[in-house]
Amino acid sequence: MSEPNRDWDAAYREEAPPPWSIGRPQPELAELIDQGTVRSDVLDSGCGHAALALVLAERGHTVVGLDASPTAIEAATAEAAERGLTTATFAQADVTDFDGYDGRFSTILDSGLFHALPPERRQDYLRSIFRAAAPGASLHILAFAAGALGDGGPRGFTENELRQEVSTLWEIDELRPAKVYGNSSALDADVPGVERDDEGHFMAPGFLLTAHKPELAAKVFDDEKARRPDPAPRRTLTIVACIIFAIASLGLAFMASIDLYLTGFPDSHFTDYDRAAKAPKRLLMWAEWGFVLVFLGLAFAPMRTRTRAIRLIIAVVVLVTVVVVQRVGVPWYFMTHLGLDNGIGG
Ligand SMILES: C[S@@+](CC[C@H](N)C(=O)[O-])C[C@H]1O[C@@H](n2cnc3c(N)ncnc32)[C@H](O)[C@@H]1O
Repeated sequence: MSEPNRDWDAAYREEAPPPWSIGRPQPELAELIDQGTVRSDVLDSGCGHAALALVLAERGHTVVGLDASPTAIEAATAEAAERGLTTATFAQADVTDFDGYDGRFSTILDSGLFHALPPERRQDYLRSIFRAAAPGASLHILAFAAGALGDGGPRGFTENELRQEVSTLWEIDELRPAKVYGNSSALDADVPGVERDDEGHFMAPGFLLTAHKPELAAKVFDDEKARRPDPAPRRTLTIVACIIFAIASLGLAFMASIDLYLTGFPDSHFTDYDRAAKAPKRLLMWAEWGFVLVFLGLAFAPMRTRTRAIRLIIAVVVLVTVVVVQRVGVPWYFMTHLGLDNGIGG
């Protein structure tokens, strides 16, 4: 069976299905689906051939399957297309370090992945799925018990080990003994405690752990994330960009205030346009002053580089809009659209 550091993709390139691909969801997880415990969006973490994700999509769930093996992902994608399932998507990813799904999943299902991870990657994994989980999201992990398959399989967990490992971030709701199914042909010899059914499966001792992402811990985690240093070059680059835009906003606001000051210059000659456009121009000038503070805040407030970069892009887009309205929109509206400037002054 599965072991840390094994070549997962090779297992999927074999003609025979790998020992864990039993052609249907693990019965313990199928029961959760039947009970209505699963809420969309769902992450099938380390999905493999994705029998679980495909059944969920058939039941109307929106589900994402992630797996390190490109061959497994290709097979799962093809199977979903074949069955016309449009709410199941699959991607190759290392689940111990993936991004792009922040706060998205209400249910995370781990069917036999956790015990397969190298011990030193387990906390990274729990952290990654925690980030991908919505507040209050549920996590269900089906894992082998320690020594479940004798010497031939993954080491598995004692109940205490599993509890301690997961509870660093997740709040555990239930941890109970469970059966993990596999293809009988993968087990040469009989192993004490492992049963076999007459459909070609073995049933080994395991645990089903149910946990959730606590609201408060989510906040603590976010704060901790905000404090965790990002790679220095990218952090410096975004901070410098924020400062440059703060200076640019300062220049724009300053120029706008000169424009307003010079209205009617040099002979106090005011046009209809000058009078009418003054109020919106002043408003936009104050907005530009405000942007100086916004960019300085973005430069110096503690936050992740990614968050800073996204906020910077949004602020720049709004600033450009303000400048375009100020320099093109206002003159157009008052001079052309309203026809205020009759050339002889107001
Ligand atoms: C024991 S199999 C279980 C597969 C599937 N959940 C099932 O029940 O059939 C473990 C799966 O985890 C995947 N896997 C292992 N390490 C991974 C990692 N770091 N990131 C993503 N997937 C990983 C393997 O490719 C494999 O498909």
